[in-house]
Amino acid sequence: MELPPLLILSFCFLNLSGLTFGAESGTPDISVTVKEDDDVILPCSLSTNENVKKMLFDWQKEGTPTQKNVFLYDDGKYYNNGLLGQDKEFKDRVSHFPEELSHGNASIRIKKTRLEDNGTYSCKFPDLKQETKIKLVVEPVLKVRINGVAQPSVTILDQTSDWALLQCDVQSGYPKPTVEWQNSNNQTIHSEEPHVSEIGNRFYISLNTTVKKDDHYRCIATQKEIWHQSHKKIYIRLNEPWKIVAIVLAVVLAVVLALVVFWILLRCYIKNKKRQKHNKEQEPRSAQEQKLNADQSV
Ligand SMILES: *[C@@H]1O[C@H](CO)[C@@H](O)[C@H](O)[C@H]1NC(C)=O
Ligand SMILES: *[C@@H]1O[C@H](CO)[C@@H](O)[C@H](O)[C@H]1NC(C)=O
Repeated sequence: MELPPLLILSFCFLNLSGLTFGAESGTPDISVTVKEDDDVILPCSLSTNENVKKMLFDWQKEGTPTQKNVFLYDDGKYYNNGLLGQDKEFKDRVSHFPEELSHGNASIRIKKTRLEDNGTYSCKFPDLKQETKIKLVVEPVLKVRINGVAQPSVTILDQTSDWALLQCDVQSGYPKPTVEWQNSNNQTIHSEEPHVSEIGNRFYISLNTTVKKDDHYRCIATQKEIWHQSHKKIYIRLNEPWKIVAIVLAVVLAVVLALVVFWILLRCYIKNKKRQKHNKEQEPRSAQEQKLNADQSV
């Protein structure tokens, strides 16, 4: 028996759409809701329950301008275990379920969800051309937290004669402080990306900057919400060895110059004294001579 062409076509189409989970539509297949700070499982399974241990699957979060890499698994290797490229906001927060892989289960767990985790995630099996989209909704919880005033402290991490690497640490702040480095003109200077961590209910921020000029530098922590600002100052002096050499040279030069001047003055003084003495010795004699001459003429 021969199938009419139309039937074959629609059969193929059904098969295809079954495989792709309707991902072409762009709307999420599943929505998951979680409370902020709780862990969440984002589900993704092959309908065939095929073993995925030797496969590749890729979890990404949709975003502009680019997707964020959440979790990548490839034949036993995954992010931070043989594979690189995970977005830093997901580092140490995402894990898979190794014992579930043989059942075609590629779900992941995100630990301690944050409000920033809100969004649409995709779980892709590129080799099977299969994709599932999951919408994650993180609900904020009202937190009662005690304010902590931020106090910066500064250290010199490294220094050469041309530059100094400065670090500012702000401990235990809440609400989250903004931290910046300024020069003596109160201008904000370029710094690296701040390193922010949240431990307990407090924020810990460290901010590095490299400076290349002698100056007073200030690290300033600001908490607008509680009208608090504090700073720590540090004076940076570069080229230290050269300056010491220059100062020593200047002092030696000054001493030599002073000695030369003193010696010249001393010689002048001695010469003067000698001449005066000589004149005094000659004076009386000439007076006598005059007297003698006068006697003779008489
Ligand atoms: C996949 O594994 C996770 C974690 O064990 C589990 O919660 C989930 O129900 C599993 N999904 C399926 C379809 O079995
Ligand atoms: C910089 O700010 C400090 C404190 O806010 C102030 O005392 C100082 O006069 C300012 N310096 C300049 C150059 O504006």
